Amino acid sequence: MSHNSYIIANWKMNTPSLAAWAQPVALACVGEAAEVVVCPPFTQLAAAQMVFTNTPIHLGGQDCHAEDSGAFTGDISVPMLKRSGCSYVIVGHSERRKYHGEGDDLVWRKAATALRHDVTPIVCVGETLQQREAGQTLDILKEQLASAVLVKGDYVVAYEPVWAIGTGVNATDEAIVEAHQFIKKQLNNRVPVVYGGSVKPDNAGAIMQLDAVNGVLVGGASLDGESFAKIIVAGARA
Ligand code: PGA
Repeated sequence: MSHNSYIIANWKMNTPSLAAWAQPVALACVGEAAEVVVCPPFTQLAAAQMVFTNTPIHLGGQDCHAEDSGAFTGDISVPMLKRSGCSYVIVGHSERRKYHGEGDDLVWRKAATALRHDVTPIVCVGETLQQREAGQTLDILKEQLASAVLVKGDYVVAYEPVWAIGTGVNATDEAIVEAHQFIKKQLNNRVPVVYGGSVKPDNAGAIMQLDAVNGVLVGGASLDGESFAKIIVAGARA
């Protein structure tokens, strides 16, 4: 069953103190309707599973392999994530696409594997600055979503314009709404779409109020528990 609103922390290759982070975040979650998910590095999952027990915070992986097991040195499978307490997994993040050469076919195969194990994939899409400036944004999104027809089940899409990630420059309201409405239309209006790219406590509320926005995926501003807690509170007011 998909939720209406998601607030997702992506810690990338950073390891904040779990206990210090969990306290303000768990407090901010009390009574809030949004699904709050944190995606720490793999090595922190076991500890995170213990720290977040009995809190409303859900765990997610930052990536997974498309196969369930096998000779894939250094990779992590969906069953492993599940055993570490993950109910979500990010797939197709632009940093995986850029630094690990991942393409749309692989990304959607990973999403299908996650769904087969009842783990909800958070599928990232988004254009580069060069593609936006060439007027190709919607074509790129269409291409990135084409293989969605191959997967069955409830998943989340994260619209993350590559030029807005970690840059402090977030997309304009118009650009966000246009992309979100387009993505929803491509997927028959049945998929929640969250926005990612320089989301901070001071812009999160306004972004979450925009049409067709079902929450946020937060990188840098999710590393500090107090800052992420403020984003959860801003989401409740949106
Ligand atoms: P950012 O990252 O919030 O630091 O821009 C978002 C993401 O990459 O998921």
